Amino acid sequence: MADLLLAGGTVLTSEGPAPADVRVASGEITAVGRNLDPVGAELLDCSGAWVGPGLVDLHAHLREPGQEWKEDVDTGTRAAAAGGYTALLAMPNTDPPIDAGHLARFVADRGRAAGRCDVVAVGAITLGRAGEKLAHLDELWAAGVRVFSDDGDSVADAGLLRRAMEYVAELGGVIAQHAEDPGLVRGGHMHEGDVSSRLGIAGRPAAAEAIAVARDLELARLTGARYHLLHATTAAAVKLVAAARADGLAVTAEATPHHLFFDHASVSSTDPAYKVNPPLRTAEDVQALRDGLRSGLIDCVATDHAPHADHEKDVPFEEAPPGMIGLETAAAAVQTAVGLDLDAFYDRMSIAPARIAGLARHGRLVAEGNPAHLCVFDPAARWAPERFESRSQNSPFRGVALTGQPRYTIYGGRVTYADGKVQA
Ligand code: DOR
Repeated sequence: MADLLLAGGTVLTSEGPAPADVRVASGEITAVGRNLDPVGAELLDCSGAWVGPGLVDLHAHLREPGQEWKEDVDTGTRAAAAGGYTALLAMPNTDPPIDAGHLARFVADRGRAAGRCDVVAVGAITLGRAGEKLAHLDELWAAGVRVFSDDGDSVADAGLLRRAMEYVAELGGVIAQHAEDPGLVRGGHMHEGDVSSRLGIAGRPAAAEAIAVARDLELARLTGARYHLLHATTAAAVKLVAAARADGLAVTAEATPHHLFFDHASVSSTDPAYKVNPPLRTAEDVQALRDGLRSGLIDCVATDHAPHADHEKDVPFEEAPPGMIGLETAAAAVQTAVGLDLDAFYDRMSIAPARIAGLARHGRLVAEGNPAHLCVFDPAARWAPERFESRSQNSPFRGVALTGQPRYTIYGGRVTYADGKVQA
């Protein structure tokens, strides 16, 4: 593996952002400083760009095993590399669901074989994600799982969730909840409000999220469990998280790029690209998410990368499956919608998610001796996405003008993305 010299960028060093070069050898950062010697190194031009830790996604649907026509670990990690990511958590709503140790190991092995980023499975909370009995939580833990979720569905039974929280708290893990009350959202396809009324499409009320979050936070209080709110979408949920945190509960929350970028007015087109669960909300909700991300009340961005094939999405809105891809546009969408500074960008996109997931080798400052998992991000690049590395193309960002773009992704000292191309 060739040595690398990342030259001329603004680097997230242990003393804060500073102009510096970064030398990488044998998978590690070996030097950070001004005017480093380029001899013997492949030169990566980082002028005008930020150099920080590789991005970490807590929430990607890679569809393997069982739905490989949408995505698999190989194509999903190509998308991750193109998006600046060096680690991701793969959601367990696969077929079969990841509810036992061997399945979690299979996903991680597939990630290692692809070799473009670390892939860690999220373990299901309940067997088969059926919401009735606990999954093999101890086996999942032994297989390296640290985050447990039935994402795609909320765990509806409060008694079962309480037991899961007690068990996972004992292990030292995190319960990550898709917080939508199932009864309230049943049959709904978009945010319930003036747009859904005009379109005559059945809605999913904002109250479904607030009710689920409020209940879950009481269970977290009861059990002492660490609780992570997946894809927060409403101002009410942000308020609940703030209050719980003020009470000292171990609560974290994520927002997705699409909920930070679009509101429910986009659904007026009835283009199924905008169909997602939880749904795109009101402009006031979007503002609350942006403010929360800026202040750190929302800890991090997570993509909810949810690939679906063209033939599945090219149907009437009500018939289409929910979800949109996001790995390749996340950083740009967040920067276009919110405009974080360098420190906050790497915190919300890498450092905080790595901490939540317990990924000790990710989300590290750019300092000598740290693993060379890096994302070089050009904050001024202007582009409009057209085609994606993902096997599926279901993105609402096609043709949308974005500011900011990953320039290089480096995983374990190897360049996985450069010059607009996945390298391996
Ligand atoms: O829109 C969504 N799609 N929300 C989810 O929670 C699941 C995801 C999927 O797996 O397609």
